[in-house]
Amino acid sequence: MNITIERVAEEELKPLYSDPNQLGFGKVFTDHMFTITYHKGKGWVEPKISKYEPFQIDPAAVVLHYSQEIFEGLKAYVTDDGRILLFRPEANAKRMYDSAIRMCMEPLPVEMFVEAIETLVNLDKKWIPRAPGTSLYIRPTLIGLGSALGVHPADEYMFYVILSPVAAYFKEGFKPISLYVEDTYIRAAIGGVGNAKTGGNYAASLLAAAKAQEKGFSQVLWLDAKERKYVEEVGAMNIFFVIGKKLVTPNLGGSILPGITRASVIELARSLGYEVEERLISIDEIIDGVNQGTVTEAFGTGTAAVISPVGSLYYKEHDYKINNYQVGPITQELYTKLTDIQYGREKDQFGWVKEIGRL
Ligand SMILES: Cc1ncc(COP(=O)(O)O)c(C=O)c1O
Repeated sequence: MNITIERVAEEELKPLYSDPNQLGFGKVFTDHMFTITYHKGKGWVEPKISKYEPFQIDPAAVVLHYSQEIFEGLKAYVTDDGRILLFRPEANAKRMYDSAIRMCMEPLPVEMFVEAIETLVNLDKKWIPRAPGTSLYIRPTLIGLGSALGVHPADEYMFYVILSPVAAYFKEGFKPISLYVEDTYIRAAIGGVGNAKTGGNYAASLLAAAKAQEKGFSQVLWLDAKERKYVEEVGAMNIFFVIGKKLVTPNLGGSILPGITRASVIELARSLGYEVEERLISIDEIIDGVNQGTVTEAFGTGTAAVISPVGSLYYKEHDYKINNYQVGPITQELYTKLTDIQYGREKDQFGWVKEIGRL
């Protein structure tokens, strides 16, 4: 790609945050963003990095009416010796490609996705926080444009990337969270778009999540759409249970997001000698296991939180504590190993981290 770079003038640069631990998640944005547009007949044109600022789209744009939108989330980390690392950017690029196909959108080639991110992150590298647990969150987004109503796929698209320096995702930090097992609302059904990272899935989840939060829970644990019997995933994470010495996680049946952290944890755990099962898991099996002491740990996995211990499940008016609301040893071990790889503290035997520059 021949990316045009329009640097923000020195006097217009934003003031840098002062305390990286107070950043929260997705509230602060860097100086620049990447954009490229697709026009039928012309292909992808005008790759550009310019000032992070509002842009205009036609009020009739397809994204605004029919939700033709997909996005991704990945992170850049700085190592102690100042190297900038991305974690599995090709995996996000590939998932976005698959999401585009499912949402009938023009997919962006994997190499363009990666090049856009590498160039933008390097330009705004002073924004990557270095305090423990902090990182630069990268949000690639693809939207359907156009200027005609009528339900149809767009013939114009914009792909853009914005960057946000972030602290830990949960205000609790690496501490157990409480989940509300949702047995009324559902997130996605098989045959639908649950395995695509599309905005509509999140819009559909907001009411249940808000109700759970009102009651003091961090997030919802979703059950399957048909029977409300099988565990699916958490609001923005996949879910794992430790049963006996095994790690067990719901299989990718089409209604849950194929998480990149999930795939990484499965590979990492196997390399550490754990047996990992991907299968249907009924909520009754989990509740019985918690009661009998055979479910000893639970944790969520996702880019934002990386690994988040689950300390309790609230299901049908009962609160079930897992591991006495303490972080379990396997959860701790996987969290330490994975973040050591992400922050370049441990050798990456999997080929996951990509060094893209230096501070
Ligand atoms: C619904 C949902 N499930 C799972 C995940 C975890 O996916 P990943 O590990 O690729 O971040 C996310 C987060 O992106 C998500 O939004």
